[in-house]
Amino acid sequence: MTALRSASSESGQRRAIAVTKLRQTPSLMRKLWTDRLAMLSDAAAEYGDAVRFRMGPKSLYYFNHPDHAKYVLADNAANYHKGIGLTEARRLIGDGLLTSEGDLWRQQRRTIQPAFRRDRLAGFAGLIVDEASALVKRLEAKIDTGPVNVVQEMTRLTLGVLGKTLLDADLSAFFNLGEEFEVAQDQAMFEMVTLRMLPIWLPIPRHRRFHAALGELENAAMDLVDGREKHTRPGADDMITRLLNAYKDEPDENLRRRRLRDELLTILLAGHETTASTLSWAWYLIDKNPEVGERLRAEAAEVLGDRLPVLDDLNRLPYTTMVIQETMRLYPPVWGLTRRALRADQVGGYRVPAGADVMISPYTLHRHPGFWPDPLRFEPERFGPASSRAQHRYAYIPFGAGPRVCVGSHLGMLEATIVASMVARKFRLGLLPGYEVRPEGMLSLRVRGGLPMVVRPA
Ligand code: HEM
Repeated sequence: MTALRSASSESGQRRAIAVTKLRQTPSLMRKLWTDRLAMLSDAAAEYGDAVRFRMGPKSLYYFNHPDHAKYVLADNAANYHKGIGLTEARRLIGDGLLTSEGDLWRQQRRTIQPAFRRDRLAGFAGLIVDEASALVKRLEAKIDTGPVNVVQEMTRLTLGVLGKTLLDADLSAFFNLGEEFEVAQDQAMFEMVTLRMLPIWLPIPRHRRFHAALGELENAAMDLVDGREKHTRPGADDMITRLLNAYKDEPDENLRRRRLRDELLTILLAGHETTASTLSWAWYLIDKNPEVGERLRAEAAEVLGDRLPVLDDLNRLPYTTMVIQETMRLYPPVWGLTRRALRADQVGGYRVPAGADVMISPYTLHRHPGFWPDPLRFEPERFGPASSRAQHRYAYIPFGAGPRVCVGSHLGMLEATIVASMVARKFRLGLLPGYEVRPEGMLSLRVRGGLPMVVRPA
């Protein structure tokens, strides 16, 4: 049900905002539940760059112009806290760096940011190559056998990299907890869609499953903390040690452990699914565009030959970098950036009331026909030196923008580029014939049901 309404602005200027009323009927609920991405794309196509979704008593203000993104995420970031979806995700990741606000956020960012210093990247590159070599071995064993689930392989790889680079820990326990991560995220999405109508203490099967999954994840996270506390190493600089030091003077033991849990679960969630999603979508797109695969292979052969990559190779692999960038344009791992307005505001002339939920979607922004010609075409050359200079800076924001910009962006790019070149020079991954690939907007952009691909030699 839709209507056009007028929203008055404080300057007296009036701008129309398209109002999409999402009645809480089963069919509309289903759309919000089953295909959030289509819901946003359809709304942008039908109503333009500013849409208000009415969801029962609440509204979601959805803005889809790069100027709007710049204003909400950067210029007036002080007026916005994290919003819908992430609020619900707090049940899983508590007040970690992704969801915290104010002084707590500033303190957490100060603790965590130095772990990503550029001078540490050379060391990270070596560790990424180790994990990528293990992946190459696993794929070698699968040549011309049945299909492998590429999402699972990329997840195993990115957990391995996260464990080695930042945490100095073996994260294989978390690989076996893939289903628990899924249950926990599913609950966050469910609460978002149902406007938290069902209190979490209701003993229904969904809630029981959620509590059990959360318990497993918490135990695995706290095992890491307890292990590190028992075996501290002098001069250690890993993130678990950093966090232990940051909270060592906290007198309230329950609070100390809760903070450690929140921060660790946040890093675990934010630090592996996003890069696994990027790489999975990259293999899907490369398979669909064989000429891109050929150029990728040619670049890897020319630059690397048979040797293993090092950090400096990143500058020598421009095409591979462009393939990753273009993948994140079409399939940005974080498909929705949500905020809540602290005070009433105007975004591009549209009035946004205090307390309103605001959504900027990299998924639809990156497909905006006003900024991306032939937006659905996979075309890595868009990110060539000449074309990217001409682009509106906020038309492409896979890592977000403003003060809450991704803290792990360099690590994510380094990892995706190294892995893409090491795998592409050895293998061709081909989608299982007849398999339908569909994106699913959970906390990150998933491939629904996984990605079965057959491994062939390059
Ligand atoms: C391709 C890989 C990645 C993508 C596309 C990505 C994307 C993003 C985006 C869009 C945000 C901003 C969220 C918002 O504004 O609401 C973000 C924040 C964050 N990312 Fe990443 N990320 C990636 C890799 C990583 C890695 C490897 C880590 C490492 C642990 C990481 C840790 C974080 C954290 C902790 C935040 C919260 C920062 C803050 O609020 O201060 N990310 N990421």
